[in-house]
Amino acid sequence: MATISQTLLTPAAHADDGPALSLSQITHHYGDVRAVDDVSLDVMPGEVVCLLGPSGCGKSTLLRLAAGLETLQAGEIRLQGRTVAEPQRRQTPPEQRNLGLMFQDSALFPHLKVLDNVTFGLDGVPPSERRQRAMKILEKLGLEDYAASYPHLLSGGQQQRVALARALAPEPALMLLDEPFSALDARLRELTRDDTLHVLKNSGAGTLMVTHDPEEAMFMADRIALMRDGRIIQLGTPYDLYCHPVEPFVVRFFGEVNEVRAVVENGEAHCAFGTVPAPEFADGTPVRMLIRPEAVSVRLVKESHAHQRSHVVVSRLLGRTSLLHLCVHTENGGEFHGHSRMPGVFLPAPDQPVAMELDPSQVFLFPIP
Ligand SMILES: Nc1ncnc2c1ncn2[C@@H]1O[C@H](COP(=O)(O)OP(=O)(O)OP(=O)(O)O)[C@@H](O)[C@H]1O
Ligand SMILES: [Mg+2]
Repeated sequence: MATISQTLLTPAAHADDGPALSLSQITHHYGDVRAVDDVSLDVMPGEVVCLLGPSGCGKSTLLRLAAGLETLQAGEIRLQGRTVAEPQRRQTPPEQRNLGLMFQDSALFPHLKVLDNVTFGLDGVPPSERRQRAMKILEKLGLEDYAASYPHLLSGGQQQRVALARALAPEPALMLLDEPFSALDARLRELTRDDTLHVLKNSGAGTLMVTHDPEEAMFMADRIALMRDGRIIQLGTPYDLYCHPVEPFVVRFFGEVNEVRAVVENGEAHCAFGTVPAPEFADGTPVRMLIRPEAVSVRLVKESHAHQRSHVVVSRLLGRTSLLHLCVHTENGGEFHGHSRMPGVFLPAPDQPVAMELDPSQVFLFPIP
Protein backbone atom coordinates (compact mmCIF):
# COMPACT_ATOMS: atom_id res chain seq x y z
CA MET A 1 0.00 0.00 0.00
CA ALA A 2 1.28 3.39 -0.99
CA THR A 3 -0.04 5.05 2.16
CA ILE A 4 2.12 2.93 4.40
CA SER A 5 5.70 3.62 5.27
CA GLN A 6 7.38 0.43 6.40
CA THR A 7 9.89 2.05 8.69
CA LEU A 8 7.99 4.16 11.19
CA LEU A 9 7.46 1.53 13.83
CA THR A 10 10.30 -0.71 14.86
CA PRO A 11 9.19 -4.17 15.95
CA ALA A 12 8.79 -4.30 19.71
CA ALA A 13 11.20 -6.57 21.51
CA HIS A 14 8.87 -9.44 22.36
CA ALA A 15 10.73 -12.14 20.49
CA ASP A 16 12.65 -13.72 23.37
CA ASP A 17 9.65 -14.26 25.60
CA GLY A 18 8.35 -17.51 24.12
CA PRO A 19 4.83 -17.64 22.69
CA ALA A 20 2.87 -14.40 22.87
CA LEU A 21 -0.19 -16.56 23.55
CA SER A 22 -0.38 -20.15 24.61
CA LEU A 23 -3.75 -21.92 24.79
CA SER A 24 -3.60 -25.40 26.36
CA GLN A 25 -6.43 -27.92 26.27
CA ILE A 26 -9.21 -25.37 26.30
CA THR A 27 -12.77 -26.65 26.56
CA HIS A 28 -15.76 -24.34 26.98
CA HIS A 29 -19.48 -24.99 27.42
CA TYR A 30 -22.50 -22.70 27.25
CA GLY A 31 -25.03 -24.84 29.11
CA ASP A 32 -25.11 -28.08 27.12
CA VAL A 33 -23.41 -26.59 24.06
CA ARG A 34 -19.75 -27.48 23.83
CA ALA A 35 -18.48 -24.38 22.02
CA VAL A 36 -14.76 -25.22 22.30
CA ASP A 37 -13.47 -28.78 22.58
CA ASP A 38 -9.91 -29.46 23.74
CA VAL A 39 -8.09 -26.80 21.74
CA SER A 40 -4.36 -26.16 22.11
CA LEU A 41 -2.64 -23.43 20.11
CA ASP A 42 0.40 -21.15 20.37
CA VAL A 43 0.85 -17.76 18.73
CA MET A 44 4.47 -16.64 18.46
CA PRO A 45 5.61 -13.00 18.65
CA GLY A 46 5.32 -11.38 15.23
CA GLU A 47 3.13 -14.21 13.97
CA VAL A 48 -0.39 -13.85 12.55
CA VAL A 49 -2.58 -16.89 13.25
CA CYS A 50 -6.12 -16.99 11.85
CA LEU A 51 -8.96 -18.93 13.41
CA LEU A 52 -11.02 -19.98 10.43
CA GLY A 53 -14.22 -21.98 10.28
CA PRO A 54 -17.97 -22.01 9.68
CA SER A 55 -20.42 -20.02 11.78
CA GLY A 56 -20.79 -21.34 15.31
CA CYS A 57 -17.59 -23.43 15.34
CA GLY A 58 -16.24 -21.63 18.42
CA LYS A 59 -13.84 -19.05 16.95
CA SER A 60 -15.13 -16.05 18.88
CA THR A 61 -15.43 -18.05 22.08
CA LEU A 62 -11.76 -18.97 21.87
CA LEU A 63 -10.79 -15.36 21.19
CA ARG A 64 -12.93 -14.09 24.06
CA LEU A 65 -11.33 -16.61 26.42
CA ALA A 66 -7.87 -15.42 25.37
CA ALA A 67 -8.99 -11.82 25.97
CA GLY A 68 -10.41 -12.60 29.40
CA LEU A 69 -13.93 -11.59 28.34
CA GLU A 70 -15.14 -15.09 29.13
CA THR A 71 -14.27 -17.07 32.29
CA LEU A 72 -12.07 -20.08 31.60
CA GLN A 73 -13.70 -23.43 32.49
CA ALA A 74 -11.00 -25.94 31.51
CA GLY A 75 -7.40 -25.70 30.35
CA GLU A 76 -4.83 -22.98 30.78
CA ILE A 77 -4.02 -19.67 29.06
CA ARG A 78 -0.57 -18.11 29.16
CA LEU A 79 0.57 -14.78 27.76
CA GLN A 80 4.34 -14.42 27.27
CA GLY A 81 4.82 -17.39 29.58
CA ARG A 82 2.69 -15.90 32.36
CA THR A 83 -0.46 -17.83 33.34
CA VAL A 84 -3.43 -15.48 33.05
CA ALA A 85 -6.27 -17.97 33.37
CA GLU A 86 -6.72 -21.25 35.18
CA PRO A 87 -10.13 -22.59 36.19
CA GLN A 88 -11.13 -21.67 39.77
CA ARG A 89 -7.66 -20.25 40.48
CA ARG A 90 -6.81 -17.31 38.34
CA GLN A 91 -8.66 -15.00 35.96
CA THR A 92 -6.59 -11.95 35.07
CA PRO A 93 -8.92 -9.18 33.84
CA PRO A 94 -8.54 -8.11 30.17
CA GLU A 95 -6.93 -4.76 30.96
CA GLN A 96 -4.08 -6.48 32.80
CA ARG A 97 -3.29 -8.90 29.97
CA ASN A 98 -1.20 -6.55 27.80
CA LEU A 99 -3.30 -7.16 24.71
CA GLY A 100 -5.06 -5.14 22.03
CA LEU A 101 -8.62 -5.90 20.92
CA MET A 102 -10.38 -5.13 17.68
CA PHE A 103 -13.87 -6.20 16.63
CA GLN A 104 -16.15 -5.94 13.62
CA ASP A 105 -17.55 -2.69 14.96
CA SER A 106 -14.73 -0.23 15.65
CA ALA A 107 -16.48 1.04 18.83
CA LEU A 108 -14.56 4.33 18.82
CA PHE A 109 -15.44 6.95 21.41
CA PRO A 110 -17.70 9.27 19.39
CA HIS A 111 -17.05 12.32 21.58
CA LEU A 112 -13.26 12.05 21.28
CA LYS A 113 -11.20 13.17 18.31
CA VAL A 114 -9.23 10.53 16.42
CA LEU A 115 -5.97 11.43 18.17
CA ASP A 116 -7.61 11.26 21.60
CA ASN A 117 -9.15 7.90 20.75
CA VAL A 118 -5.68 6.58 20.01
CA THR A 119 -4.00 8.10 23.10
CA PHE A 120 -6.84 6.84 25.32
CA GLY A 121 -5.04 3.66 26.40
CA LEU A 122 -1.70 5.35 27.01
CA ASP A 123 -2.12 6.12 30.72
CA GLY A 124 1.31 4.82 31.63
CA VAL A 125 3.07 6.90 28.98
CA PRO A 126 4.33 10.42 29.78
CA PRO A 127 1.89 12.99 28.29
CA SER A 128 4.56 14.47 26.01
CA GLU A 129 5.16 11.07 24.43
CA ARG A 130 1.52 10.09 24.02
CA ARG A 131 0.76 12.39 21.14
CA GLN A 132 3.98 11.49 19.38
CA ARG A 133 3.34 7.78 19.64
CA ALA A 134 -0.25 8.08 18.47
CA MET A 135 0.74 10.28 15.53
CA LYS A 136 3.36 7.75 14.46
CA ILE A 137 0.78 5.00 14.20
CA LEU A 138 -1.77 7.25 12.53
CA GLU A 139 0.83 8.18 9.93
CA LYS A 140 1.59 4.55 9.31
CA LEU A 141 -2.08 4.02 8.57
CA GLY A 142 -2.36 7.08 6.35
CA LEU A 143 -4.59 8.86 8.88
CA GLU A 144 -2.41 11.76 10.03
CA ASP A 145 -4.70 14.32 8.39
CA TYR A 146 -7.65 13.04 10.40
CA ALA A 147 -6.09 13.34 13.86
CA ALA A 148 -8.31 16.28 14.78
CA SER A 149 -11.51 14.85 13.22
CA TYR A 150 -14.33 13.18 15.04
CA PRO A 151 -14.91 9.49 14.20
CA HIS A 152 -18.32 10.00 12.55
CA LEU A 153 -16.64 12.00 9.78
CA LEU A 154 -14.53 9.00 8.78
CA SER A 155 -15.40 6.13 6.42
CA GLY A 156 -15.90 2.63 7.80
CA GLY A 157 -12.43 1.60 6.67
CA GLN A 158 -10.84 4.65 8.26
CA GLN A 159 -12.70 3.99 11.50
CA GLN A 160 -11.35 0.43 11.55
CA ARG A 161 -7.85 1.80 11.05
CA VAL A 162 -8.31 4.13 14.01
CA ALA A 163 -9.51 1.17 16.07
CA LEU A 164 -6.37 -0.69 15.02
CA ALA A 165 -4.19 2.29 15.93
CA ARG A 166 -5.90 2.55 19.33
CA ALA A 167 -5.37 -1.16 20.03
CA LEU A 168 -1.71 -1.03 18.95
CA ALA A 169 -0.72 2.22 20.65
CA PRO A 170 0.09 0.66 24.05
CA GLU A 171 2.41 -1.77 22.20
CA PRO A 172 0.66 -4.93 23.38
CA ALA A 173 2.37 -8.29 23.09
CA LEU A 174 -0.80 -9.80 21.64
CA MET A 175 -3.48 -8.54 19.28
CA LEU A 176 -6.89 -10.22 19.18
CA LEU A 177 -9.07 -9.42 16.16
CA ASP A 178 -12.59 -10.77 15.61
CA GLU A 179 -13.82 -10.37 12.00
CA PRO A 180 -12.31 -6.86 11.85
CA PHE A 181 -13.09 -6.30 8.16
CA SER A 182 -16.45 -8.00 7.73
CA ALA A 183 -18.49 -4.78 7.89
CA LEU A 184 -16.51 -3.24 5.00
CA ASP A 185 -17.35 -3.57 1.32
CA ALA A 186 -15.05 -5.65 -0.88
CA ARG A 187 -12.68 -2.97 -2.15
CA LEU A 188 -12.32 -1.23 1.19
CA ARG A 189 -11.82 -4.57 2.89
CA GLU A 190 -8.87 -5.35 0.62
CA LEU A 191 -7.20 -2.01 1.27
CA THR A 192 -7.81 -2.10 5.00
CA ARG A 193 -6.56 -5.61 5.51
CA ASP A 194 -3.44 -4.92 3.48
CA ASP A 195 -2.59 -1.96 5.71
CA THR A 196 -3.52 -3.96 8.80
CA LEU A 197 -1.27 -6.86 7.86
CA HIS A 198 1.78 -4.65 7.36
CA VAL A 199 1.23 -2.68 10.54
CA LEU A 200 0.69 -5.86 12.57
CA LYS A 201 3.76 -7.57 11.15
CA ASN A 202 5.80 -4.47 11.83
CA SER A 203 4.59 -4.16 15.41
CA GLY A 204 6.17 -7.41 16.57
CA ALA A 205 3.00 -8.40 18.45
CA GLY A 206 1.54 -11.86 18.05
CA THR A 207 -1.89 -11.76 16.40
CA LEU A 208 -4.86 -14.09 16.67
CA MET A 209 -7.54 -13.15 14.17
CA VAL A 210 -10.98 -14.65 13.63
CA THR A 211 -12.45 -14.88 10.15
CA HIS A 212 -14.87 -17.14 8.30
CA ASP A 213 -13.43 -16.11 4.91
CA PRO A 214 -10.76 -18.56 3.65
CA GLU A 215 -9.26 -16.07 1.23
CA GLU A 216 -8.91 -13.50 3.99
CA ALA A 217 -7.25 -16.09 6.22
CA MET A 218 -4.79 -16.98 3.46
CA PHE A 219 -4.07 -13.30 2.88
CA MET A 220 -3.45 -12.50 6.54
CA ALA A 221 -2.11 -15.63 8.17
CA ASP A 222 1.29 -17.13 8.74
CA ARG A 223 -0.66 -20.10 10.07
CA ILE A 224 -4.33 -21.00 9.91
CA ALA A 225 -6.26 -23.05 12.48
CA LEU A 226 -9.31 -24.43 10.67
CA MET A 227 -12.06 -25.28 13.17
CA ARG A 228 -15.25 -27.31 13.11
CA ASP A 229 -17.58 -28.04 16.03
CA GLY A 230 -15.21 -26.51 18.60
CA ARG A 231 -12.14 -28.46 17.47
CA ILE A 232 -9.11 -27.59 15.35
CA ILE A 233 -9.27 -29.88 12.31
CA GLN A 234 -6.00 -28.70 10.76
CA LEU A 235 -3.32 -26.23 11.83
CA GLY A 236 -0.64 -25.13 9.41
CA THR A 237 0.48 -22.63 6.81
CA PRO A 238 -2.02 -21.57 4.13
CA TYR A 239 0.02 -23.77 1.76
CA ASP A 240 -0.34 -26.79 4.08
CA LEU A 241 -4.11 -26.45 4.28
CA TYR A 242 -4.66 -25.67 0.61
CA CYS A 243 -2.25 -28.20 -0.86
CA HIS A 244 -2.13 -30.90 1.82
CA PRO A 245 -5.63 -30.99 3.34
CA VAL A 246 -6.12 -33.72 5.94
CA GLU A 247 -9.88 -34.15 5.40
CA PRO A 248 -12.50 -33.52 2.70
CA PHE A 249 -13.89 -30.77 4.97
CA VAL A 250 -10.63 -28.81 4.58
CA VAL A 251 -10.72 -29.07 0.78
CA ARG A 252 -14.36 -28.03 0.58
CA PHE A 253 -13.89 -25.12 2.98
CA PHE A 254 -11.50 -23.42 0.56
CA GLY A 255 -13.95 -23.51 -2.33
CA GLU A 256 -16.38 -25.52 -4.37
CA VAL A 257 -14.99 -28.81 -5.75
CA ASN A 258 -16.01 -31.57 -8.17
CA GLU A 259 -16.56 -34.79 -6.22
CA VAL A 260 -16.52 -38.23 -7.80
CA ARG A 261 -15.84 -41.78 -6.67
CA ALA A 262 -13.21 -44.06 -8.13
CA VAL A 263 -11.43 -47.32 -7.43
CA VAL A 264 -7.63 -47.31 -7.44
CA GLU A 265 -6.18 -49.48 -10.21
CA ASN A 266 -2.52 -49.91 -11.10
CA GLY A 267 -1.62 -47.15 -8.65
CA GLU A 268 -3.93 -44.63 -10.33
CA ALA A 269 -7.34 -43.12 -9.72
CA HIS A 270 -9.33 -42.66 -12.88
CA CYS A 271 -12.60 -40.81 -13.51
CA ALA A 272 -14.37 -39.02 -16.33
CA PHE A 273 -12.25 -35.90 -15.77
CA GLY A 274 -8.98 -37.80 -16.14
CA THR A 275 -6.40 -39.83 -14.24
CA VAL A 276 -4.11 -39.02 -11.30
CA PRO A 277 -1.43 -41.07 -9.53
CA ALA A 278 -2.56 -42.72 -6.28
CA PRO A 279 0.60 -44.45 -5.03
CA GLU A 280 -0.42 -44.30 -1.37
CA PHE A 281 -3.47 -46.53 -1.94
CA ALA A 282 -3.59 -50.29 -2.54
CA ASP A 283 -5.23 -51.40 -5.76
CA GLY A 284 -8.95 -51.97 -5.27
CA THR A 285 -9.31 -49.18 -2.68
CA PRO A 286 -12.48 -47.15 -3.21
CA VAL A 287 -11.64 -43.43 -3.00
CA ARG A 288 -13.42 -40.12 -3.05
CA MET A 289 -11.77 -37.75 -5.55
CA LEU A 290 -12.06 -34.06 -4.68
CA ILE A 291 -11.13 -32.11 -7.78
CA ARG A 292 -10.70 -28.34 -7.65
CA PRO A 293 -12.14 -26.67 -10.76
CA GLU A 294 -8.67 -25.24 -11.50
CA ALA A 295 -7.36 -28.81 -11.69
CA VAL A 296 -9.59 -29.49 -14.71
CA SER A 297 -7.84 -28.32 -17.82
CA VAL A 298 -10.11 -28.15 -20.84
CA ARG A 299 -9.08 -28.58 -24.46
CA LEU A 300 -11.48 -27.90 -27.32
CA VAL A 301 -12.00 -30.79 -29.74
CA LYS A 302 -13.73 -31.16 -33.08
CA GLU A 303 -16.55 -33.67 -33.01
CA SER A 304 -19.62 -33.98 -35.14
CA HIS A 305 -21.86 -35.50 -32.44
CA ALA A 306 -21.26 -32.98 -29.68
CA HIS A 307 -23.67 -34.49 -27.19
CA GLN A 308 -22.00 -37.86 -27.31
CA ARG A 309 -19.05 -36.59 -25.34
CA SER A 310 -18.26 -34.08 -22.60
CA HIS A 311 -19.21 -30.59 -23.66
CA VAL A 312 -19.61 -27.03 -22.44
CA VAL A 313 -22.96 -26.05 -20.92
CA VAL A 314 -22.11 -22.39 -20.35
CA SER A 315 -18.94 -20.29 -19.85
CA ARG A 316 -18.58 -17.31 -17.54
CA LEU A 317 -15.77 -14.78 -17.22
CA LEU A 318 -15.03 -14.22 -13.52
CA GLY A 319 -12.14 -11.78 -14.03
CA ARG A 320 -8.76 -13.40 -13.72
CA THR A 321 -10.28 -16.78 -14.56
CA SER A 322 -13.11 -18.23 -16.62
CA LEU A 323 -15.54 -20.75 -15.14
CA LEU A 324 -16.79 -23.44 -17.48
CA HIS A 325 -19.90 -25.43 -16.60
CA LEU A 326 -19.49 -28.82 -18.19
CA CYS A 327 -21.67 -31.78 -19.01
CA VAL A 328 -19.22 -34.57 -18.22
CA HIS A 329 -19.78 -37.93 -19.92
CA THR A 330 -18.68 -41.13 -18.18
CA GLU A 331 -17.43 -44.21 -19.98
CA ASN A 332 -20.56 -46.18 -19.19
CA GLY A 333 -22.89 -43.67 -20.78
CA GLY A 334 -23.78 -41.58 -17.73
CA GLU A 335 -23.37 -37.81 -17.45
CA PHE A 336 -23.04 -35.30 -14.63
CA HIS A 337 -22.41 -31.61 -14.07
CA GLY A 338 -18.84 -30.42 -13.46
CA HIS A 339 -16.79 -27.22 -13.26
CA SER A 340 -13.49 -26.17 -14.77
CA ARG A 341 -11.67 -22.95 -13.98
CA MET A 342 -9.33 -21.80 -16.73
CA PRO A 343 -6.86 -18.91 -16.51
CA GLY A 344 -7.69 -15.66 -18.28
CA VAL A 345 -10.44 -15.22 -20.86
CA PHE A 346 -11.48 -18.64 -22.14
CA LEU A 347 -15.13 -18.72 -23.14
CA PRO A 348 -16.05 -21.62 -25.41
CA ALA A 349 -19.62 -21.62 -26.73
CA PRO A 350 -22.35 -23.89 -25.36
CA ASP A 351 -22.25 -27.43 -26.81
CA GLN A 352 -18.55 -27.15 -27.65
CA PRO A 353 -17.08 -30.68 -27.24
CA VAL A 354 -14.07 -30.84 -24.92
CA ALA A 355 -11.33 -33.16 -23.72
CA MET A 356 -10.12 -32.81 -20.14
CA GLU A 357 -6.93 -33.38 -18.21
CA LEU A 358 -6.23 -33.21 -14.46
CA ASP A 359 -3.50 -31.36 -12.56
CA PRO A 360 -2.79 -33.91 -9.78
CA SER A 361 -1.59 -31.20 -7.35
CA GLN A 362 -5.18 -29.92 -7.01
CA VAL A 363 -6.88 -33.31 -6.82
CA PHE A 364 -7.24 -34.89 -3.37
CA LEU A 365 -7.98 -38.54 -2.69
CA PHE A 366 -9.57 -39.87 0.49
CA PRO A 367 -10.42 -43.51 1.15
CA ILE A 368 -14.13 -44.31 1.37
CA PRO A 369 -14.61 -46.29 4.60
N1 LIG B 1 -23.15 -16.26 25.20
C1 LIG B 1 -23.52 -17.45 24.68
N2 LIG B 1 -24.50 -18.17 25.26
C2 LIG B 1 -24.87 -19.35 24.76
N3 LIG B 1 -24.33 -19.93 23.69
C3 LIG B 1 -23.36 -19.26 23.04
C4 LIG B 1 -22.92 -17.99 23.50
N4 LIG B 1 -21.93 -17.56 22.68
C5 LIG B 1 -21.79 -18.53 21.76
N5 LIG B 1 -22.64 -19.56 21.96
C6 LIG B 1 -22.71 -20.79 21.17
O1 LIG B 1 -21.42 -21.39 21.15
C7 LIG B 1 -21.10 -21.86 19.84
C8 LIG B 1 -19.84 -21.17 19.34
O2 LIG B 1 -20.13 -19.79 19.18
P1 LIG B 1 -19.03 -18.73 18.67
O3 LIG B 1 -19.63 -17.38 18.76
O4 LIG B 1 -17.76 -18.97 19.39
O5 LIG B 1 -18.88 -19.19 17.16
P2 LIG B 1 -18.13 -18.45 15.94
O6 LIG B 1 -17.27 -19.50 15.32
O7 LIG B 1 -17.50 -17.20 16.38
O8 LIG B 1 -19.34 -18.17 14.95
P3 LIG B 1 -19.59 -16.89 13.96
O9 LIG B 1 -18.71 -17.15 12.75
O10 LIG B 1 -21.03 -17.01 13.61
O11 LIG B 1 -19.25 -15.65 14.70
C9 LIG B 1 -22.33 -21.64 19.00
O12 LIG B 1 -23.09 -22.80 19.00
C10 LIG B 1 -23.04 -20.52 19.72
O13 LIG B 1 -24.44 -20.59 19.50
MG1 LIG C 1 -17.75 -15.18 15.89
